[in-house]
Amino acid sequence: MIKDSISRREILTTAGLIAGGAALSQFAGLVAKAEAKGGPTEKWPWPYEKLDPEKTAELAYNEWYRVFCGNAVISSIFSQLRDKVGEPYKSFPVDAFVFLEGGMVGWGTVCGSNAGANIVANVIIGPRIAGPECENGAQIGNDMLQWYSETALPTFTPKEPKVKAAIAQTVSNSPLCHVSVGKWMKKSGYPIASAERKDRCARVTASVAYHLVQDLNAWKDGTYKPKATWKAVSNVGITAQQNCNECHGSNIPTPPKKK
Ligand code: HEC
Repeated sequence: MIKDSISRREILTTAGLIAGGAALSQFAGLVAKAEAKGGPTEKWPWPYEKLDPEKTAELAYNEWYRVFCGNAVISSIFSQLRDKVGEPYKSFPVDAFVFLEGGMVGWGTVCGSNAGANIVANVIIGPRIAGPECENGAQIGNDMLQWYSETALPTFTPKEPKVKAAIAQTVSNSPLCHVSVGKWMKKSGYPIASAERKDRCARVTASVAYHLVQDLNAWKDGTYKPKATWKAVSNVGITAQQNCNECHGSNIPTPPKKK
C-alpha cells in the first residue's frame, strides 16, 4: 500500500515537472512574440501613480466578495491605474487570477493576498532578473510576506462591513493560507464556510492592499527602504518560512552541504 502511494506520488511529481517545463517554454514563446510586436507590455517598470491606501483597501474588501483574495488585491490597484494611466493596465487580464483563492484553488499554500501583492509589485517595479532598478519589486513582495506573518490581522476595518460583529485578530507567523486561516478559526471558533471567516479574509485582503499601496507610494517618492530581514536561502540554506519548529518541533534538520 505504502509503496503504491509513493510510486503514485513519484508519477505525479514527474508529470508536474513535465507540465511545468512545457508551460515555461510556452511562456518563452509568448514573450518572444510580445517583443517582436513591440507591444506596450514588454517594458518595465509600468507607470505608477500614487494611490490612496484607504480607498484601495475599500475596493479590495468589496472585490473579495467577487473574486477572492489574490485577485482582489490585483484588481483594487490595477482598476485604479486603468483609469489614471490607461495602457498597459487596460490589457492586463486581472480576473485571470481568481485561482489564487484559498492558497491556490483551495490547497492552502501561500495566502492569495500575498501572491497578489507580489504580482502587483513585480508588474509595477519589474522582476528582479531585469536588473538592479527592478529589485524593489521582489523586495516589496518579500516585505509583504514578513509583515503578513508578524502582524495581528486583519488591521483594516471597512466603512460598511458586511459582518457587523467584531472580527478577531490573529498573528499567523506564516504566509500560508492554511496556517493563517487555521489559527484564526481556532481563536474565533468560526468554521470555514461562516460569514465571519469570509469577512475576516476580505479584511485581511484589504489590509494587504492598504499596506502594499503604502510601500508603492514610498517607492514612487524614492523613500522606500527594504524592511524584510528574512532571507531563507542565505540564512538557513533552504527555501523556508521562519518558524522552523512549528513543523519540525525541536528536531530541525540541517540541509546537506555537498556541492
Ligand atoms: C510549514 C512547515 C515547515 C516549516 C515552517 C519548515 N519546514 Fe522544513 N520541512 C517540512 C517538511 C514537511 C519537510 C519534509 C520532511 C521529510 O520529508 O522528512 C521539510 C524538510 C526540510 C529539510 C530537508 C529534509 C531533511 O529532513 O533534512 C530541511 C533541511 C528543513 N526542512 C529545514 C527547515 C528549516 C531550517 C526551517 C526553518 C527555517 C524549516 N525547515 C521550516 C516542513 C516545514
